[in-house]
Amino acid sequence: MPRYTLNVNGQSRTVDVSADTPLLWVLRDTLELVGTKYGCGVGLCGSCTIHLNGVPTRSCQALVSTVAGLRITTIEGLSPTGTHPLQKAWIAHDVPQCGYCQAGQIMTAAALLQNNPSPSDDEIDGALAGNLCRCGTYLRIRKAVRDAAAASPGGAP
Ligand code: FES
Ligand code: FES
Repeated sequence: MPRYTLNVNGQSRTVDVSADTPLLWVLRDTLELVGTKYGCGVGLCGSCTIHLNGVPTRSCQALVSTVAGLRITTIEGLSPTGTHPLQKAWIAHDVPQCGYCQAGQIMTAAALLQNNPSPSDDEIDGALAGNLCRCGTYLRIRKAVRDAAAASPGGAP
């Protein structure tokens, strides 16, 4: 089995997995970072979204052999204390229902605010359009992203 050294949430992690293993399963099964969720497995729902070098990426579609050397950030690493402005806004707006899609929603929103600290509603909707929520929390997500942007006018960390 090949060995890969990954940079996950600022830590160097070595894993022995086959080259065609999706990063999603390395995160969840090998590294036990289960905040990243498996939804569709084919790149369509966004529940598995993590950051690769700050870019929101569907971890079900990224093979482990392609991510060594890249900065991988999962929901567990977004804020060591769970106090990222988006996480605080999510709590304030009571956004989740079942919660299944929410890690992916937050990771996508975090990348948006990094690049656009003050997005319009259309920009929020556009950035998150690929993140599906079966519970229909879209309006609360939009409000929470707006609040997080207002709370971090210089851009969320
Ligand atoms: S599980 Fe990766 S996009 Fe749905
Ligand atoms: S909160 Fe249930 S799928 Fe989004």
